[in-house]
Amino acid sequence: MYSNVIENTLLAYIANDESNSVPSLRCFSTPPSFGLVYEGPYQFRRVTQPGFVENEASTSKNVLACPICYKPLTWIGDSSLSIESAAGSSLQCNTCKKTYSGMGTHFDMTAASGSKDYGELMTPTTEFFRMPFMSFIYERGWRQNFVWGGFPGPEKEFELMKGYLKPVLGGNIIDASCGSGLFSRIFAKSGLFSLVVALDYSENMLKQCYEFVQQEANFPKENFLLVRADISRLPFAASSIDAVHAGAAIHCWPSPSTGVAEISRVLRPGGVFVGTTYIFDGPFNLIPFSRLLRQNMMQISGSYTFLSEREIEDLCRACGLVDFKCTRNRGFVMFTATKPSQN
Ligand SMILES: C[S@@+](CC[C@H](N)C(=O)[O-])C[C@H]1O[C@@H](n2cnc3c(N)ncnc32)[C@H](O)[C@@H]1O
Repeated sequence: MYSNVIENTLLAYIANDESNSVPSLRCFSTPPSFGLVYEGPYQFRRVTQPGFVENEASTSKNVLACPICYKPLTWIGDSSLSIESAAGSSLQCNTCKKTYSGMGTHFDMTAASGSKDYGELMTPTTEFFRMPFMSFIYERGWRQNFVWGGFPGPEKEFELMKGYLKPVLGGNIIDASCGSGLFSRIFAKSGLFSLVVALDYSENMLKQCYEFVQQEANFPKENFLLVRADISRLPFAASSIDAVHAGAAIHCWPSPSTGVAEISRVLRPGGVFVGTTYIFDGPFNLIPFSRLLRQNMMQISGSYTFLSEREIEDLCRACGLVDFKCTRNRGFVMFTATKPSQN
């Protein structure tokens, strides 16, 4: 009853708002929650379309592409776009004559998937999260420790990123390097996106995400996919994605520049990238030879460490993203950059 009153008020508000309507990519000048009915923690019900992204790619299955040739794939088996499709379907590339199998919990869309003798070993930061122990403890204590470095915590991070994602709400989103799906699940339950792809290189993180989803009553399993892929080789068609989120991830990637370049390739014009990471500047710069030390650490470990705000901005720009903005809190940064619109 109460929610009906809210809903009617919202619809009336939206009807008024439509008088100055501009086509589909317009966003509200008020917070995005004005198009939604709040139904509990992270639960919103969408009450209207205006103000939300509406385009064919947002809801289409054709966003998934072969990670080798980037051509669209043919679905074989269960044709629904849901977390359960990985149990009954596979994806076939007619160009490469290769099949990407559903592994029960997720689709394996790494370039080497299906290889029998070849086993890939990535950098330590990538391999670290493939361990079953890590996927088990990640949301059971590990992630909570980020608060000491200035991470505000999932609820506040989601609130903050919604502001950045405002122009693309209603579109599809990739939660790149999703871990055990902390944010992917929030995105799905928010009702703010037409499709959520939870993507990670760690098969164990994806399995853990699947378990969390199964344990939750009324989880919206439609339009929610789990995909195993390398950030440097994203299985999506160019210009097909409205939003990419990469939480606490860029410092774990083997090559941040290849990752951001891939994100830039898959984002449609006007698409938004939001990431969080630890920042390496401010007091760190006062440590003598800090940059040299960091360089040596990177060479020894074979992995990247934390970047400065200027480096992240520079990286986004170098990969063709514009309009860089960020919010900082001690060692934490949430940054955003946009794929330029076509004129
Ligand atoms: C610190 S966790 C972040 C999880 C989650 N996004 C969050 O905000 O808590 C970093 C994630 O990056 C993933 N990762 C590392 N290397 C990757 C790669 N090459 N491609 C895709 N994901 C990768 C790891 O598997 C891990 O799940």
